Amino acid sequence: MNILHIDCSPRPESYSRQLSAAIVKKLLGVRPGAHVSRRDFASVPLPHAAPDYATTLSSPATLAAPLRGALDVSEALIQEVEAADVIVIGTPMHNLTVPSVLKAWIDQILRAGRTFKSTPAGKIGMLSDRPVFIGIASGGVFAGDRANQPDFLTPYLSVVLGSIGLKTLQFFPLQATAFLDWDQATLAVDNALAAIDLTVLAKTARPMTVKGA
Ligand SMILES: Cc1cc2nc3c(=O)[nH]c(=O)nc-3n(C[C@H](O)[C@H](O)[C@H](O)COP(=O)(O)O)c2cc1C
Repeated sequence: MNILHIDCSPRPESYSRQLSAAIVKKLLGVRPGAHVSRRDFASVPLPHAAPDYATTLSSPATLAAPLRGALDVSEALIQEVEAADVIVIGTPMHNLTVPSVLKAWIDQILRAGRTFKSTPAGKIGMLSDRPVFIGIASGGVFAGDRANQPDFLTPYLSVVLGSIGLKTLQFFPLQATAFLDWDQATLAVDNALAAIDLTVLAKTARPMTVKGA
């Protein structure tokens, strides 16, 4: 099994990093031989959409005749997603949504004619579905009875990832980190992941062998 492990927090000691690491640990617990690929968009940020990339994406005609090299970054990132049986994302909430470094990745992996078909009824995903586990750290509260701010993060990720075919998503919010004692972080991470459903691993793009089976 291939796991693509993505982190986005600019903080080295971050709650979303702890969440994503704990998710990967759980996955390795049930699939000990899994291979983990890392992307740390905070340490090594992706470029924002470059002029040649944006120009190539600007119409069906330009997409059909892409500028030389314009799609190279996008293609490499899409192939990384295709090679992953499972994707794990650790992300902070930044101004009610995803941080810009994660948005830069989204801007590269959503590409008409490659990862989605554009139809009058909307985008239709072209990638095989596979589980995506998303750990979210937020300083305040965006879900549940105590929510005091809108949530543009989970609906946004659901729509953009769903539009390329990734529909088996699980979100694990660790909220109110501004008021969390760092000593309680491990317990908070455990609580946030209490409802994780690993049975979805059966729904991977490629058949997997269970160690010892
Ligand atoms: C630029 C920026 C914007 C933020 N915006 C929000 C926000 O809209 N809502 C919220 O609850 N917390 C917000 N926070 C707080 C972070 O979500 C919080 O510190 C979280 O723990 C960061 O994740 P990390 O621990 O993985 O770094 C923001 C933090 C930064 C740096």
